[in-house]
Amino acid sequence: MTACGDLPVDVWTWNLDIDEALAVRLSAWLTEEERKRASAFITPQLQRRWIAARAGMRGILASVLGVSPQAPVFVLGPHGRPELAGADSPFSFNLSHSDSLAAFAVSEAVVGVDVEEIKALPEGVAGMVFSKPEIAALEAETGGARARAFYRYWTAKEAVLKALGTGLSVSGRSFTIDISRPEVPRLVSADWKDEDTQAWQLSAFHPADGFAGAVAVRTQRSLRLNFKTWTFGE
Ligand SMILES: CC(C)(COP(=O)(O)OP(=O)(O)OC[C@H]1O[C@@H](n2cnc3c(N)ncnc32)[C@H](O)[C@@H]1OP(=O)(O)O)[C@@H](O)C(=O)NCCC(=O)NCCS
Repeated sequence: MTACGDLPVDVWTWNLDIDEALAVRLSAWLTEEERKRASAFITPQLQRRWIAARAGMRGILASVLGVSPQAPVFVLGPHGRPELAGADSPFSFNLSHSDSLAAFAVSEAVVGVDVEEIKALPEGVAGMVFSKPEIAALEAETGGARARAFYRYWTAKEAVLKALGTGLSVSGRSFTIDISRPEVPRLVSADWKDEDTQAWQLSAFHPADGFAGAVAVRTQRSLRLNFKTWTFGE
């Protein structure tokens, strides 16, 4: 614990498989542009999931900011990270969705979150996007342990990249995560200019059975993580 105390970080999760009636109701929270984006998905299920993800993000922000879910106006960073327009909010936030699950993190420090459905170990992916020490650590594992390690690295790295907001312009190879304490991954090195790797706090979490999750916060304060379940109410 630092002199400033632990930094609160709220991490919400929710189920994206909503029925058509709820999707219609939640669509009213979205902008015309967001509704168009939802309708571009190929199946009704994918459309409903995207509506539920965006509406959840709006609903949580509304409760944090004390406004209606329709009120937040988003602008995109240079690589597509949504932020609140006007920059008068003290909060950083980030959304992730995978299959039927969404996660949303909110904090006063820069935050990124990632959730992934755990599937069979994808062939050749680690070699393309992990750093050399991560690949070596992964290759030292076998079977299920290797798959678990893969998703721990993947979600932690994605959470860091999503906090940075740089998308694919920063390579996954340019930084190394240590997962020797699986619940508390650490950013141990990064090739980025002037980056203080000590100024990052990471945490793995278990969002739901069959999913892995991680949150990354750019802060030197230790984290006070509050895990919550979002529901859309009646
Ligand atoms: C786009 C990216 C930010 C995340 O993609 P993803 O893992 O497929 O998607 P997630 O569900 O976790 O996150 C998507 C949400 O993040 C937000 N987002 C979009 N661009 C973002 C960015 N540059 N930074 C942070 N968040 C971003 C949006 O809210 C988005 O939701 P939306 O698609 O409903 O608008 C980016 O990191 C990416 O393309 N990754 C590809 C995978 C990869 O190669 N990873 C390397 C791991 S080492």
